[in-house]
Formats: sequence, C-alpha cells, structure tokens
Amino acid sequence: MIIQQVLLLLLLWMCLPHSCYAEMLFRRTTDHQPKGFVARVSGSDGKALHRQKRGWMWNQFFLLEEYTGSDYQYVGKLHSDQDKGDGSLKYILSGDGAGTLFIIDEKTGDIHATRRIDREEKAFYTLRAQAINRRTLRPVEPESEFVIKIHDINDNEPTFPEEIYTASVPEMSVVGTSVVQVTATDADDPSYGNSARVIYSILQGQPYFSVEPETGIIRTALPNMNRENREQYQVVIQAKDMGGQMGGLSGTTTVNITLTDVNDNPPRFPQNTIHLRIPESSPVGTAIGSVKATDADTGKNAEMEYRIVDGDGTDMFDIVTQKDTQEGIITVRKPLDYETRRLYTLKVEAENTHVDPRFYYLGPFKDTTIVKISVEDVDEPPVFSRSSYLFEVHEDIEVGTIIGTVMARDPDSASSPIRFSLDRHTDLDRIFNIHSGNGSIYTSKPLDREISQWHNLSVIAAEINNPKDITRVSVYVRILDVNDNAPQFAVFYDTFVCENARAGQLIQTISAVDKDDPLGGQKFFFSLAAVNPNFTVQDNEDNTARILTRRNGFSRHEISTYFLPVVISDNDYPIQSSTGTLTIRVCTCDNRGNMQSCNAEALLLPAGLSTGALIAILLCIIILLVIVVLFAALKRQRKKEPLILSKEDIRDNIVSYNDEGGGEEDTQAFDIGTLRNPAAIEDKKLRRDIIPETLFIPRRTPSAPNNTDVRDFINQRLKEHDIDPSAPPYDSLATYAYEGNDSIAESLSSLESGTTEGDQNYEYLREWGPRFNKLAEMYGGGESDKDTS
Ligand SMILES: *[C@@H]1O[C@H](CO)[C@@H](O)[C@H](O)[C@H]1NC(C)=O
Ligand SMILES: *[C@@H]1O[C@H](CO)[C@@H](O)[C@H](O)[C@H]1NC(C)=O
Ligand SMILES: *[C@@H]1O[C@H](CO)[C@@H](O)[C@H](O)[C@H]1NC(C)=O
Ligand SMILES: *[C@@H]1O[C@H](CO)[C@@H](O)[C@H](O)[C@H]1NC(C)=O
Repeated sequence: MIIQQVLLLLLLWMCLPHSCYAEMLFRRTTDHQPKGFVARVSGSDGKALHRQKRGWMWNQFFLLEEYTGSDYQYVGKLHSDQDKGDGSLKYILSGDGAGTLFIIDEKTGDIHATRRIDREEKAFYTLRAQAINRRTLRPVEPESEFVIKIHDINDNEPTFPEEIYTASVPEMSVVGTSVVQVTATDADDPSYGNSARVIYSILQGQPYFSVEPETGIIRTALPNMNRENREQYQVVIQAKDMGGQMGGLSGTTTVNITLTDVNDNPPRFPQNTIHLRIPESSPVGTAIGSVKATDADTGKNAEMEYRIVDGDGTDMFDIVTQKDTQEGIITVRKPLDYETRRLYTLKVEAENTHVDPRFYYLGPFKDTTIVKISVEDVDEPPVFSRSSYLFEVHEDIEVGTIIGTVMARDPDSASSPIRFSLDRHTDLDRIFNIHSGNGSIYTSKPLDREISQWHNLSVIAAEINNPKDITRVSVYVRILDVNDNAPQFAVFYDTFVCENARAGQLIQTISAVDKDDPLGGQKFFFSLAAVNPNFTVQDNEDNTARILTRRNGFSRHEISTYFLPVVISDNDYPIQSSTGTLTIRVCTCDNRGNMQSCNAEALLLPAGLSTGALIAILLCIIILLVIVVLFAALKRQRKKEPLILSKEDIRDNIVSYNDEGGGEEDTQAFDIGTLRNPAAIEDKKLRRDIIPETLFIPRRTPSAPNNTDVRDFINQRLKEHDIDPSAPPYDSLATYAYEGNDSIAESLSSLESGTTEGDQNYEYLREWGPRFNKLAEMYGGGESDKDTS
C-alpha cells in the first residue's frame, strides 16, 4: 500500500511541473479486485513504470489538445493481468470516437488519437474497454468505462464584445474617477492553468487615463482635465491572458472618452468699455444697444444674467437678458434730455446663472464692463408750461380783456422764440384771439354764458426758426355767470276767475325761470306792479306764488278780462326784474268752480284755437281791409278828376272784370302807371301782355311846344287815330286831359320817378277809351292794359 502511494505522489510530481502528458491514472486494490489491468504511466521520457498488481479499472486518460506531431498521438495503453503476452487476448474499444478518432492496437492495447483534437470543441470523450480471449471470444475482464479528458492549452486570445466603446466623464473630475469598465472574455479553460486569466493594460490614453489590471475599470489619471482644452480622448485597452505574462495572447479595444462640461469658466466681456448712442427723443422702452459677454462653457453652464450695478444713469436705463442670444439689451427707462445730460456711464455685470459651488475657488463667476451712452440732440417742439390751462372769466368782461396767458419754451439748447396761434377750428365764432408773441388770450367778441358756458380752445405753439415743430395745448375757458337775465313766467298762464268767486280764492299758482345760474341757486320774488283791489299775489317763498281774489263777485258783462301785471325779481347782484302780465278771464262757473262759459270773445272762438291761428285770421282780415281801403281811395281820387265824363266811370270796369288785386306789390293788376307822365308810356318793359307790338308803336308826332293851343293838340291826336291802321274798326273814344302848366302833380307814377324820360313835361295825358274795353274783352280782363288809347 505504502509503496503504491509513494508511487502516485512520484507520478504527480513528475507530471505537473513538466506539463507532461499522462497516460492515465488509476487506483486499484487487490482486495477488491483480484484480477485487473495494471495501468501504466509513462513520463515524458516514455519510460513505462510497471506495477505488480493486476487491475482493470481506471478513471480517465489525459490528452493535450492541438497536437501538431506528424504521427498518431499516443493516448495510453490497456493491459490485463491475464495477458501472458502470447497474443491470446484481444482489446476492444467502443464509445465516443472509437475506431475513428481513437484507435486501439488489439494485441498490445495501445490507444492513439488519429487527428488533432480541440478542447474548445469537445472537452472529454467517454469510451469503453474490453479484453476478450481471442479463441473463446469470452471476455477475460469485465467491460470498463473510462474518460479521455482533453487538456487545455492557451490557444484563444481574450476578446472584447465591442470594438469601440464610448464613455464620458465630467471635466475637472478628481483623479481616479471611474469612467467605464471594459471586460474581455477568453475561450480557454478558466479552471485549468492561466490560459483564461486576463490582465488589462492601457496602450494609448496615458497619462490621462488608467485601467485597473484585474477589473478593466478605466479611471481618470490626471487632475483638472479641462474640457475647454481638450474634449475628446481615445483610449486603447489591451487584455492579455496567461495573467499578462509573456507569451500570453492579447486583444484590444478602443474607448472614446468625452469630457462633459462643468461650469468652471466665468463670463468675460471682450471689451472694457462699450460706447452706445441714442437720440434724446427716443421714447421709454427703446432699445439702445446690446452687450454680450462670452463664456467658455456650454449649455446652461454658459447662461448668464446681466445687471446694471453702478454708474450715474442707473435709474435712466434698464438691461434685460435675452435668453436665446445671451445678450444684455439696454433700454431707455426714463425720458432723456440732451439739454439736461449728454453722457451716462453704466457699470454692467454679467453673472452665470448656474454656479457650481465646487468651483468657487476659481473666483467669482461674473464680469463687468463700462457702458457709455451718449445722448444725441434732436430738434424738439416747444413745451408748454402746463399740460392744459383752465381760465375762468365773467361773462360781462369788456371785449379785448386778456383772460389768461399760456407759456411755452423751446427745450433745445439753441432756444428759439415761440409764436402762438389759436386753432380756429376750436373757435369757430372767433370770440377769442391770442397775442402771438406772448401767449395772452383776449376776447374779440362779447361773451355770454347763457349761449355757451365753455370755450375749449386749442393753442398752437410753433418755433419761429422751425415753424413745423409745433405743440398744441388745450385751453378750457369757463364763462362765469353774471346776473344779466331777468326772471320770467315759467309758462304762459291761461287763467280765469269765476263770476261767483269769493274773496281769497286761489285762481293760479305761478312760477318763474331765469337763464342765469347763480351759485346759491335761484330765488325769485313776486309782487304786484300796483295795488289792485281785485287780485293779490302771495309769494310762497319757494320760487312760486299764488294769485288770489280780493273780493267777491266778478261779472263778465262788466269786465270780461282783467290784466294783472306781476313783478318777478331775483336776488342776485345786480337785481334783475321783469313784469309779466297775467290775463284773467271772467267766466261763469258751476258751484263747484268748474268753468262753464267765459267772455264773448272766448265763446266765439273754438276752444283750443291757438294764438298762431288767431294771428293768421287777423292778418287775413287786415289784408282784406287794406284792399277795400285801397279801392275806396282809388275811387275817390278818380272822382276828383275833372275830365271824367259821366258816372259810367271806366274804372268801374276794372272791378267788374274780377281783378282781385295782389296788394301793393302787384303793379300789373293795379297798374298805377295809368297816372303816368305821357313820356313814361314809352316804357314797355314791364308789360306782360302779348298784344303785337305794332299795335303800340307810338306814332306820336312831335309834341307841340308847351304853349301850343290845346285844341291843336287834340286835333292832332284825332288825326292820328283816323289814320291808324291798327285801330279797331269800330268807333272808339279817346279822351285827353290837360292839367295845365302849374300842376304840382307831376308824375304820379312811383315807377317813373327819377327816370330820364320824365323830362319835366307838364302834360298829363290820359288816354282812356272804349278801345280799352275792347282789349279787355279780348284778353279776358285779367291782365288789363289801361294806358293805351
Ligand atoms: C471615436 O473617436 C474617433 C477619433 O476621435 C472618431 O473618429 C470616431 O468616430 C469615434 N467613434 C465613436 C463611435 O464615437
Ligand atoms: C402781451 O402783449 C400784449 C400786446 O403786445 C399786451 O397787451 C399784453 O399785456 C402782453 N401780455 C403779457 C402777459 O405781458
Ligand atoms: C369743455 O371742457 C370742459 C372741461 O373739460 C367740459 O366739461 C365741457 O363739456 C367741454 N365743452 C365742450 C363744448 O367741449
Ligand atoms: C277792479 O274791478 C273793478 C270792477 O270790476 C274795476 O272797475 C277796476 O278797474 C278794477 N281795478 C283794476 C286795477 O283792474
């Protein structure tokens, strides 16, 4: 036993250190199995060790993979104690690859592998061995199973699953910050030898990164790695088996490492001073310009906020940060004035919005710059001293009084004189005027509060140097009341008193109105103009008064209408009063005081007839009367004329021809030209008749001198008529009258007065005659012609 164990140890000692190939190992005790094979183990030197004991039992053979020899690789030998070496025994192999991959010499029991074996393909083969008697074919040993185990050699290199890895790590990370882990795999047997023991190393990427040899974890290796200097790194990692020893197989991979940004850079203004300019007229809110600081960081680490932190214009300007461009826009906050201040200086600060406390030690994350803003001059319109003016003036001021003065000045440094004018559209009645030099407004017409209480004017101020630069201002003129109107009855009172009224009876309550508008309100007083025995007025002291009877019994037959003058006065200064007359009719009433009938005139007129209608009727009556009087006057005058022959006055015909007469205006219907001077007859212009003109061509022979005998004159006229071809064929009468030299009548025609034809001819020629009658018949008598013969 002891020998056996010593042998085994010896065998182990021989095999392991020398990477020997073993034939096999076994263990056998004679106690258990009296018969059996002796397993032989041969060292590398090929020497076989012989055993004393028989046995037929073994566990496994070992065989190296990847055998590269030209002959068959020897695996081991089967041997039975029964084998006397005479060739009577036969060894038989069966199982995985028996006969093909593994062959056995049936006489000697030597097993060989026929070709190269790859462990990574199949790590062990299970086979059975048998020994039979060649003659009897009876097994001499029981069938036994054994394993051929393939020994690994390092024939696989480590491989990475990815060809390129990408990873990122924040810049400025502390040394040793883990970036990423890469792992390689090795197909070799990890349970045997070092063939699958992988060690990592860095081939490229030093000194920035390192790799842990056992784990493959990549870590940062340099402090303060700055993204702003270099962002991308390419690291090559090698994995080597055999524990990294020489001769090990290796594989590599690439890791692209990106440094991510942290806020480790403050904003920076590129310039120390920025100049901006702005016209003074720019309204509040106008953008003047922008400032921009740069930040080496990216994304939100570069976001910043602008502020005005100091300067002499901090309240005049604002700065707003524009998110998308990261600019600071400076705007006008208060109106600027070149004349007040021309240059402002601002201190503008830009500060990062997202600051990382880890980098406070790098300094403040902000920067400042100086912004100088120049205000530029603009020609500005005049400025009034107030935004509007209110002037109050009493309505009774004299025309030409100055009611107030507006003031304006030119704000420009070259102050121009101002010229004032009134916008005439706001003073259409031209009640006001303005002194163009000094802005004093005065009245040019009287004021009347009762017509217009307000005059809202617009005054224009223009610079004399630049008349287009104008400004307007509103001037409100309020007209203050003066008591210049007397109170009057509020309405027209239609009042009556009953015949059966008793003393002290109320017949009317009266009230009054006044166009004035005194501050303390209106107060009216009522009284009678004179003492009256019939009526009295009782002032109610509330701007009304009652009219009462003073005695019993009125009679409309005695007096049908009373006129009662009532004095109404106000209490303003100066006191204004008026007298209104109340008309009180006397009426019969029933005993309840309801009016039944009033005086005669009232009875005639239908109730409710208006004053207008009454006036119209009156006018008609007057016109009729005038016409009648005119006719009468005419008639009387004609009667006075000495040469009228008979009572059959031709003028009667005028009336009988229905000449209605158009009043004094109608000179055609009532042609007072009948009384004209004969010389005026030639004036035919106003005539409207349509008788052929030949009929009227004056064929007057030259008039006899003033002292010619009248008879001669008449004879001459007679002759004319005899030879007149246009005269009617029947007899006609022509009458001629002569007033004599000293007549004061001259021309009676108002139409002729002052004409050149009235040449002091004292002849008053009348040519009346039946011919007129004929003509009148011919023309219907409407447009009578009365002055032809
Ligand atoms: C890795 O980095 C290299 C060089 O910087 C670049 O050409 C390549 O495209 C990167 N690969 C990946 C997958 O990002
Ligand atoms: C403005 O000028 C007018 C006439 O030149 C003068 O009557 C008036 O008093 C002046 N107004 C003022 C406020 O001086
Ligand atoms: C004028 O202005 C006053 C005050 O603003 C106003 O009460 C009045 O109605 C205005 N009158 C006219 C005619 O515009
Ligand atoms: C008062 O009435 C009487 C009688 O009716 C009349 O004569 C008198 O004139 C009246 N007086 C006045 C002032 O009307």
